[in-house]
Amino acid sequence: MIKAIYGTKDILPEDILKWTHLENLVRNVMGSFNYKEIRTPVFEETRLFARGIGEATDIVSKEMYTFNDRSDNSVTLKPEMTAAVVRSFIEHKMDKKQMLNKMFYISPMFRQERPQAGRLRQFHQFGAEALGSDSPQLDAEMIIMPYDIITSLGLKNIVVKINSLGVPESRENYKNVLKDYLAPHLNDLSEESRKRFETNILRIFDSKAENDQKIMEDAPLLIEHLDNASLEHFEGVKRTLLEAGIPFEIDPKLVRGLDYYTHTTFEIVSGSVGSQSALCGGGRYNLLVEQLGGKPAPGIGFAAGIERILLACENEESLKLPDDSLDLFVVDINRDNAELVSKLSLFFRRKGLTVEHDYAARSVKAQMREANRSNAKFTIMVGGDELERNEIVLKTMETGDQKSFNIDNLQSVFETMRG
Ligand code: HAM
Repeated sequence: MIKAIYGTKDILPEDILKWTHLENLVRNVMGSFNYKEIRTPVFEETRLFARGIGEATDIVSKEMYTFNDRSDNSVTLKPEMTAAVVRSFIEHKMDKKQMLNKMFYISPMFRQERPQAGRLRQFHQFGAEALGSDSPQLDAEMIIMPYDIITSLGLKNIVVKINSLGVPESRENYKNVLKDYLAPHLNDLSEESRKRFETNILRIFDSKAENDQKIMEDAPLLIEHLDNASLEHFEGVKRTLLEAGIPFEIDPKLVRGLDYYTHTTFEIVSGSVGSQSALCGGGRYNLLVEQLGGKPAPGIGFAAGIERILLACENEESLKLPDDSLDLFVVDINRDNAELVSKLSLFFRRKGLTVEHDYAARSVKAQMREANRSNAKFTIMVGGDELERNEIVLKTMETGDQKSFNIDNLQSVFETMRG
């Protein structure tokens, strides 16, 4: 038997309502902040991500689905959207069209990580990127939007964490301070962290090794070494979040796993999903456009994992889904009126109702069972003496009330159903 690839999942019809409910919410919230949707290809040139996300990151060094196509070009399935959106921004000279470009996306992503609860190899993100402004209000907006979406889903067990990574100059100075602190501990660090000491020292804060964590407890913090302009920007972000009623914690150890960040970084973390707890992450990347060959432009964005959010909703039993039950089931009483039943159904389907009927000439009992199982609000009985009188019977399932209508007067049947 051929099965779905390890770490990928079918989204089955019985689950789709959760997805469309979340996607509609995303479109509404992003729309209200005037973000426009962008869709980029599923694969890009490998060097876009290598340059954009950073060679030393886990994503680029271990997790990308990279292969040579038949023309021997190295291509990669997108592991995230930011680099792709920035590529598109530069390619289409969006900065010439308007000063600030606000875009959102809902898209599959691909990372060859070890699958576990809330971690897949093909997963889905919704997110946003804003290019062309370094206003701290935009930083706050990037936290408010996912916060509003996540709380609208009824999730309660969440924490918003924010930090600032400042600008490269202060960060480089700080890296030396951190190096001086860690040098005497080097032999006690895990192998992974010893590697990161050379390649990506800030990520040692993310180490899960107990001893590494103990050593990092007393490490000097970047936030204590920020330049004044960065601190001022961060204060502006915090004030705007307070005004918006967003509770947050400052987490000076929040460094994030992608290299492009400057200034604000943030995550929304859930206490309901186990170890893969980040529902959403993002931050400012004021140098990325230039790094990818564009005219310098500040940027900021976030991305949230849909599977993880839905897992949290399941664990907190928080979702209230819209009703997708049938409006109407048309019953073929004599089991010989398939064409008429199909024609009547079409009339009401074209009126926008969700309508079903039997396709297998099953017994009336089986048809009624089906109508009940699908929670139909109404049934129409076609057949018997009524049909000989050119009538059909409309039954309201909740009350059991029945009413006959002339078959040529379907409009009044429709109006009765609409109430
Ligand atoms: P990220 O932190 O790599 O950031 O991913 C964002 C979110 O995607 C995570 O918080 C998580 O919910 C979800 N996610 C990541 N990997 C997986 C996986 N293997 N399985 C399931 N869910 C996953 C970014 O991708 C940045 N592009 C965010 C950003 C946008 N920064 C600026 N703009």
